[in-house]
Amino acid sequence: MISRIAGLIICCVIVLSNVVFAQDAKVLDGSDQRSPISLNGDSHTIVDPYRTGLFTFHNEEKKNGWFLNEHGKVGDTQVIEYDFAKAPTLKVPGDWNTQKDSLFFYEGLLWYQRDFTYIAKPGKRVFLHVGAANYRSWFWVNGKKVCEHEGGFTSFDCEVSSAIHDGPNFVVAAVNNTRIADGVPTLNTDWWNYGGLTRDVSLIEVPGSFIDEYDLHLDRATRSKIEGWVHVENAKPGQPVSVDISELNLRASANLDENNRAHFDFDIPAKTLSLWSPDSPKLYKVQLRSADDTLTDEIGFRTIETRGSQILLNGKPIFLRGISIHAEAPFRTGRAYSQEDANTLLGWARDLGCNYVRLAHYPHDERMTRTADRLGILVWSEIPVYWMIQFDNPAVLAKAKLQLSEEIRRDRNKASVIFWSVANETPINPARTKFLSTLADTARALDSSRLVTAALLVRGEGHTKIIDDPLGSALDVIGANEYIGWYEQKPETADQTMWRIDYEKPLIMSEFGGDARAGLHGNENERWTEEYQASIYRHQLVMLNRISQLRGLSPWILMDFRSPSRQLPGVQDYFNRKGLIAPDGTKKAAFYILQKAYKEGSVGKAD
Ligand code: GCU
Repeated sequence: MISRIAGLIICCVIVLSNVVFAQDAKVLDGSDQRSPISLNGDSHTIVDPYRTGLFTFHNEEKKNGWFLNEHGKVGDTQVIEYDFAKAPTLKVPGDWNTQKDSLFFYEGLLWYQRDFTYIAKPGKRVFLHVGAANYRSWFWVNGKKVCEHEGGFTSFDCEVSSAIHDGPNFVVAAVNNTRIADGVPTLNTDWWNYGGLTRDVSLIEVPGSFIDEYDLHLDRATRSKIEGWVHVENAKPGQPVSVDISELNLRASANLDENNRAHFDFDIPAKTLSLWSPDSPKLYKVQLRSADDTLTDEIGFRTIETRGSQILLNGKPIFLRGISIHAEAPFRTGRAYSQEDANTLLGWARDLGCNYVRLAHYPHDERMTRTADRLGILVWSEIPVYWMIQFDNPAVLAKAKLQLSEEIRRDRNKASVIFWSVANETPINPARTKFLSTLADTARALDSSRLVTAALLVRGEGHTKIIDDPLGSALDVIGANEYIGWYEQKPETADQTMWRIDYEKPLIMSEFGGDARAGLHGNENERWTEEYQASIYRHQLVMLNRISQLRGLSPWILMDFRSPSRQLPGVQDYFNRKGLIAPDGTKKAAFYILQKAYKEGSVGKAD
């Protein structure tokens, strides 16, 4: 009897301790500005298609799973059937599919383990920062669970203060990229389901009470005030917080309210602020200071809004000369994550004459938005509510909301980001429109300084393309995808095509284009040739110029990207070939057609 009670208590403690440790992941704003301790590099890995290391044969989460990092060996007294120390390694960050041929098609659970040394510092709290883990992930430090997460393209932070210790430590992660029906995205995507720890992993140290969230932006009405707030974790109402912009000789201070938020609303001396824009992407060092913490971020100040069918940047109409980009790494292929990837992709967009990019269909690495901030490239950022997800499933709405809030937490102080896109090419039905309208409201509640959009499908009647999707009324800016000349009709059909847009709002043609294999030549009626793709662009640009409320475009797409459904041998070979550039950097004929139009400013009007 006694032993049973003792047994019960022990099991409760473990459960309790797991609950204590199994906290949800959070996001620390500005974490990349806190000199992270990198955990990138080689990690031992175990491929676990049957999830043996995590779940029992009755599908319960194991208490003695592979996160304990034991080392099975001959002569053992108990059955231990793994040993990370003898397991092969993979690089972190990096998808597993392009690191090993045997993992090219792998979708399932894969374990990571690495040792690291940590020098404990008194009074410091420590978080494990994960740039992204596709799709579901679990994390343990020294065998103790620290968090789990769902969503493959947003960063998150897990507190490890109670699990980490001075000296040698180990971290174990389990990542499962299995596509699930109630996932975001769901079972079908036109991109490769690269799995793994696809972005940086590091340790972030913060004081016991620290700044974990802030929003500072220029007021739209006057563009002469900086407004926003700073939240301090584990602080006391009434404590002071200050914001310093030394270059502008500006210092403001405010006290924390009952929710530990300090609200700011301070004037900028006239004519001192250089507004952030593509022509002058001015970033200011902004120092935030609370009782125990200091955080410095680089922030540009600008306003973005609409007026009828115009998009106004800093109060002036602007036309967005854009291109769509997937996070496919140039040259090496696989999931993009490095500064070099960002420099190459945004550098090519610059060569094209772009002042804007659509980062599709999910939040890209933070280096992309940081680099866009520095280069002065405006950004459409999107969560992977893509095609047919379960719009009538409240749990799926919660997942989409989580991804939206993580995306906004990471990038809301990035001047380059102007649009939050809540969806791409979703079917028109009441459950979907309700779902997406809720997401649009959520985006506005989290960030009232930006515009909400989505990439809609268009319908046709004769030679007229019609945008009357009911979701349009919930959006600030209408995005529309069309493939005249590729999936439908001929390139020259665009010449006769008229457009009816049932909303007096700015329109962005968020996708158009066609496939071409770089180096494949023929006459312009031959599909898959560069000439055919170029013909699509020539006819599209003329058609687009007839749409009076067109305020931007992001043709599909900057560079060819891997996709499981693109299988034409010798042409596609698992690549969507709608890129204007091949993965090896070869520019196709259509690249120069769009570049010419952008450099001459012969496509589109800002007002
Ligand atoms: C769609 C979709 C893209 C896809 C593209 C294509 O519009 O949004 O994700 O890659 O079409 O078919 O090439």
